[in-house]
Amino acid sequence: MVKIAPSILSADFADMAAGVKLMEQAGVEYLHCDVMDGVFVPNITFGFKMIEDIRKKTSLPMDVHLMIDKPERYVERFAEAGADIITVHVEATVHLQRTLQAIRQCGKKAGAVLNPATPLEMVKYVLDDVEMILLMSVNPGYGGQGFIPAVMGKITELKEMIHAHGKEIEIEIDGGVNKETAAGIAAAGADVLVAGSAVFSAPDPVQAVRELRESIK
Ligand code: DX5
Ligand code: ZN
Repeated sequence: MVKIAPSILSADFADMAAGVKLMEQAGVEYLHCDVMDGVFVPNITFGFKMIEDIRKKTSLPMDVHLMIDKPERYVERFAEAGADIITVHVEATVHLQRTLQAIRQCGKKAGAVLNPATPLEMVKYVLDDVEMILLMSVNPGYGGQGFIPAVMGKITELKEMIHAHGKEIEIEIDGGVNKETAAGIAAAGADVLVAGSAVFSAPDPVQAVRELRESIK
């Protein structure tokens, strides 16, 4: 079954607990938390304290997507704050394998993220070091952007690469996922769908999750 990971980026930051409760009601698999530093991406969101405070309110697995420069500086802090999965951009860390190891040494699941223009070759030699690979289907920084169609072929290729490697690794897709695009993305081989605006900008976020699931059946 394809997992749904709503991104709290599009939730009301002043009423985060309410958004999290709605996602529990909706029965989502992960809570996707977008950390942005204003350097790696042109936007700033939140840091450790938000993760820590959400952790106190829910037992939903927290999938923390670090859009920050040199994420190796902070993986331990995010692990301590309560992240379950920590993903880092290959474009942001020079010693990727070491950074992934550092995440695992904290007892957390590690993931590598590729921007839309970054080739799959960048993760070819770290497949043993990850539980997840996140393909960005928009340029990171903002919610509500349109899905970049070229990523569709990248999903299929990554699926083949993982299959050939012979180890289970989740493929997560982030950006422009909604009830129009989700079915094609799932059919291409995605295991986890991140959805921000499609869920939290909907009048009824619980219903929006249900509709997303329906759309991929
Ligand atoms: C984009 C973030 C996404 C974002 C997706 O930089 O990484 O997780 O919340 O938003 P939507 O689903 O609106 O494209
Ligand atoms: Zn994200």
